[in-house]
Amino acid sequence: MAILVTGGAGYIGSHTVVELQNAGYDVVVLDNLSNASEKSLERVEKITGKKVTFYKADILDREASEEIFSKEQITAVIHFAGLKAVGESVQKPWEYYNNNIAGTLTLLDVMRKHNVKNIIFSSSSTVYGTPEQIPVTEETPKGECTNPYGWTKSMLEQILMDVQKADSEWNVILLRYFNPIGAHKSGTIGENPNGIPNNLMPYITQVAVGRLKELGVFGNDYPTPDGTCIRDYIHVLDLADGHVKALKKIEENAGLCIYNLGTGNGYSVLEVIKNFEEATGIKIPYSIKPRREGDIPANYANAEKAYNEIGWKARYGIREMCEDSWRWQSQNPNGYED
Ligand code: NAD
Ligand code: UFG
Repeated sequence: MAILVTGGAGYIGSHTVVELQNAGYDVVVLDNLSNASEKSLERVEKITGKKVTFYKADILDREASEEIFSKEQITAVIHFAGLKAVGESVQKPWEYYNNNIAGTLTLLDVMRKHNVKNIIFSSSSTVYGTPEQIPVTEETPKGECTNPYGWTKSMLEQILMDVQKADSEWNVILLRYFNPIGAHKSGTIGENPNGIPNNLMPYITQVAVGRLKELGVFGNDYPTPDGTCIRDYIHVLDLADGHVKALKKIEENAGLCIYNLGTGNGYSVLEVIKNFEEATGIKIPYSIKPRREGDIPANYANAEKAYNEIGWKARYGIREMCEDSWRWQSQNPNGYED
């Protein structure tokens, strides 16, 4: 009996593998390493003292998935595998729709053939588009996405809901993540973006470690208290814990469930910089740049449903997220490359 974690060598996946192993699950990872290093899994094994069964494979490759499902006793899938760079998705929409949607359809087909009908899917708060009211609850209507990446999440949610509706043997949990940051307390696994980071926290840590000169703050004229955008940053360890709790729910025949995974607290870009500086004692030089296309002024979660139904609540605050992001970056200035 094992849990298949697609995309398990990646940022959120590797942290979730740690939590799963700590909770006593056997884990099989499928990852094509398009945005990850196998070293993350070696480090996971060091943290937990347990073996990870790893298949370098692509979710688009039906035969490879068939082989995994034939060999391993998979009971549920946690599906992280996907491309996730918002800007790149605007340039390469076909690649994003193919990888994320065709890949997931292939995976679902192999799953049903092998009678594995339990899946937890990595969705995103991006499916709310520009919400009319914040904090957003799971009842907040989904909105217009501003990029193909976001649409893949929104469409995959719909596909999974339809699959579950047509066959009640399926248990589908959609987890809508807010903004994951932070790293494992050991500082040995963390976020390792390719090239110049698009996201705020890895940009800040790379400035702090001297790889980048200064941070650009995208806009300070938004209708927020300090003019910069507000987001709900969530510690990756809390996210990982959310998956273990969701798995318990799956085991109770969940049917279809949707949960926001956020802290319920919003922080502006300037507040994140200030918290990082206070947590680490390192000054982050920054300058104000024009707004970034597609950014919404503020977004944060109401995560009460996850608490009420699966007993999940974020444990870590912004200070610890900054400390832990920095521990990872400072111990691994070049990520997984030595
Ligand atoms: P990541 O890029 O670190 O992890 C994704 C993993 O999937 C990578 O290891 C990559 O190699 C693998 N992968 C991609 N396409 C694949 C394919 N066709 N076959 C096999 N493996 C493939 O990203 P992450 O931040 O860990 O995100 C994990 C999931 O969570 C993604 O689905 C992402 O869209 C979603 N998500 C992330 C965020 C975020 O801000 N990090 C927010 C919301 C949702
Ligand atoms: N920001 C900067 N400078 C930077 C990077 C970001 O000022 O160099 C600002 C952005 O303008 C935004 C905030 O920091 O106001 C957060 O930006 P991120 O790129 O870190 O996060 P987003 O909220 O834009 O998007 C993230 C993921 C998406 C996901 C979305 C919702 O990147 O994949 O959260 O889950 F869809």
